[in-house]
Amino acid sequence: MKNLLSIEQLTGDEIKDLLALGHKLKAERGHHERLPLKGQTWALIFSKSSTRTRVSFEVGISELGGRPMFLSVHDIQLGRGEPIKDTARVLGRMIHGAAIRTYGQQEVEEFAGFSGIPTINALTDEEHPCQILADLLTIEEIYGPGSWKDMKIAFVGDGDNNMSRSWMWAAKRLGFTLAIGAPTNYLPLEDFRKHLDCENVIFTTDPVEAVKGASVINTDVWLSMGQEAEGLSKEKHFYPYQVNRELLEHAAPNHSAFHCLPAYRGKEITEDVLEHFAPVIFREAENRVHAQKAVLATLADANRA
Ligand code: CP
Ligand code: NVA
Repeated sequence: MKNLLSIEQLTGDEIKDLLALGHKLKAERGHHERLPLKGQTWALIFSKSSTRTRVSFEVGISELGGRPMFLSVHDIQLGRGEPIKDTARVLGRMIHGAAIRTYGQQEVEEFAGFSGIPTINALTDEEHPCQILADLLTIEEIYGPGSWKDMKIAFVGDGDNNMSRSWMWAAKRLGFTLAIGAPTNYLPLEDFRKHLDCENVIFTTDPVEAVKGASVINTDVWLSMGQEAEGLSKEKHFYPYQVNRELLEHAAPNHSAFHCLPAYRGKEITEDVLEHFAPVIFREAENRVHAQKAVLATLADANRA
């Protein structure tokens, strides 16, 4: 594994290895025997806002012996129109790895190709692979190693965004049952579904059907970064898909509500549900550090080999 560009591009075994290493690195936090990023500089190139991703990468890179360098696109020439392939070729000669948060998936693919250094997707419009790894780690902590195998997981809200798509690829690679509950126009298009080609991913416009018997119920913002201008005209479709106490009555008895954060209370999730599941939801955020340390260590070792 030379890059982490999407969950789609991982195998089930690669995901399982990253989870196992994430648990190990979490247990060893503060006393790592090896520092796989020692002497390395890793850039964080961000075109979109971030709290969790930026901080967890800065912390993770430092704890593995490396030096993080945050580069907002507003400060570097990329923001003034320098092509990504030129930025990639320059940075590839100076630094050891990069995590990129941007709009088009093509941009992280191009950076990886032209830089030749390990490249991580820190969120694109297409996928959010780091979050899904942290969420799977959290599921294993709560329900046990490999517990996702026999579980129904639901995603309710915008069924055609980066989070829902990364969940779909995780279901395809790992074989668990995933139900996507979303309004008709916010379910993935037929082309994507054909490309996914996965019987264990169920699509429904009925939120109750999506949540029925699910142990993990995910939601995410209705307006992803870059969609703010759609405002109410998009949001108005989603109120029946709010994760609230009534909807969760249909879930499995041992269920947890997950949210990648940031959350908009009163929209995709109610205040009381968010606060009830705060120990789980903020554990997901904490696990970003450990899941990403597993990614960083794996990529550093693979690119050294
Ligand atoms: N969940 C997540 O990626 O959060 P940030 O946007 O704060 O990084
Ligand atoms: N779908 C959200 C995820 C934020 C972490 C967005 O892209 O804004």
